[in-house]
This record gives sequence, structure tokens and C-alpha cells, in this order.
Amino acid sequence: MINLMHASKIYVNGVRALSGIDFAAEDGEFVSIIGASGSGKSTLVHLLGLLDTPSDGRYLLDGEDVSALRPRELAALRGRKIGFIFQHFHLIEGMSARDNVALPLLLQGVRREERLERADEALAAVGLSHRAGHRPAELSGGQQQRVAVARAIVTRPRVLLADEPTGNLDPAAAKDVLALLCELHRQGNTVVLITHDMAAAGRAERTLYLENGALLS
Ligand SMILES: Nc1ncnc2c1ncn2[C@@H]1O[C@H](COP(=O)(O)OP(=O)(O)O)[C@@H](O)[C@H]1O
Ligand SMILES: [Mg+2]
Repeated sequence: MINLMHASKIYVNGVRALSGIDFAAEDGEFVSIIGASGSGKSTLVHLLGLLDTPSDGRYLLDGEDVSALRPRELAALRGRKIGFIFQHFHLIEGMSARDNVALPLLLQGVRREERLERADEALAAVGLSHRAGHRPAELSGGQQQRVAVARAIVTRPRVLLADEPTGNLDPAAAKDVLALLCELHRQGNTVVLITHDMAAAGRAERTLYLENGALLS
């Protein structure tokens, strides 16, 4: 499903964030990547999620070489195949949980009735049906992250990329979010969990280590 080959990333300021990364994940696999702050975890998530392109190397996503795609094509592919969960939730403040979850469908041109129906299904899947009308500020951190998980799955992507999804949560909320990721894996999704928490990483089928921009197994 994911096949990143000999990828490097050098930012315009000259920082080499990743070097010679070979990373593959099978369809339906649950892989965790652990690394210290600054080791290149977010950079790797951005490459895997088509938010950024490698300076060098190749990336096949679901068999398709994405290296040659234009920004518009990358955005469309990202919308179809990838769901993101970030450390800081990135929910829109003025919108209800339901509207936050429905937003990716709006970008895909799904009609309103179906958007709301699917948003409600996704909120039910994360156990938050009773909070659908609440705004982010009216939710706990754990609930906000579950809304973010619902938003990630509402487009039914095959790949879920979670960048330190429990980094801002208390242990109980972190446990809930990890349980959701495990359940999404059980349902057949490919899950890549990036974390610096050993216990969280241990929930995956295998764990890789990122150190100074290089991947060790
Ligand atoms: N947009 C950027 N421009 C320049 N350097 C960056 C950028 N993003 C990250 N970096 C640098 O790349 C390295 C890896 O960062 P990052 O991928 O965010 O690591 P992590 O998520 O593991 O903390 C760091 O040295 C960071 O300062
Ligand atoms: Mg990071």
C-alpha cells in the first residue's frame, strides 16, 4: 500500500530532515514509528500523506507512482486515500463536531444530506453521537481527538496516518484514541502511528525507529 523508496527530504533552509528512507507498509498493516522530537517524524508523515514531496527518492502509494503528479492531482489522491490525525486536532472552532467531520466530504462535492448522514455515522463510530452539535471548545481534549478521528475516516480512506495522536491527551483519553486506531486496523485499514510513546507504539504489529532522519528496524 505504502512504498517509499530511498526518500530524502532537505528543506529549503538546508536542513536535512530525512535521509535514505525505505519504508513499506502492506495493505491492512498497523505499523508504528517511534522517534525523539526533531527526528523527522512529522516530515515523514507529510511525505506519506502527500502533503509534501521528497527531495529525492520515489513514492508508490497503492501501486501508483506519485512522484510525477501535480499538486492538484496529489490533493485529489490525498482526499481519496488518506486520513490524517494530528497531535493538535486541527478542528475548526466555529463549527459543530458534525460540520467538522463533514468538511472533507464538502471538499469532495458530496451533497449535503449524504454529508451529514456520513458525519453522523463517523461520530457514532467514535462514540460521540451525543456531542454532534457541540463545538470544539465545548469538548474535552479526548473528545476533540475522537472528532478528529471521525473526520479522518468519514471519507473512508484506506490509509490512516496519525502523527502523535495521543501527545496532548491524558492517559485515559490516550487509551480511547489508541483503542479506536486498533479497531480501525481490525476493520482492514492500513494504520501508521507516529509517536514517542513506547506503550502506544507497542499496540502496532511492528515498530520502526526514526533517528536523526534515518529509519532503523
Ligand atoms: N518546514 C520546515 N522547514 C525547515 N526545517 C524544518 C521544517 N519542518 C521541520 N524542519 C526541521 O526538520 C527536522 C525534523 O523535523 P520534524 O519532522 O518536525 O521532526 P519531529 O516531528 O520528529 O519532531 C528538524 O530539525 C526541524 O527543525
Ligand atoms: Mg512532529
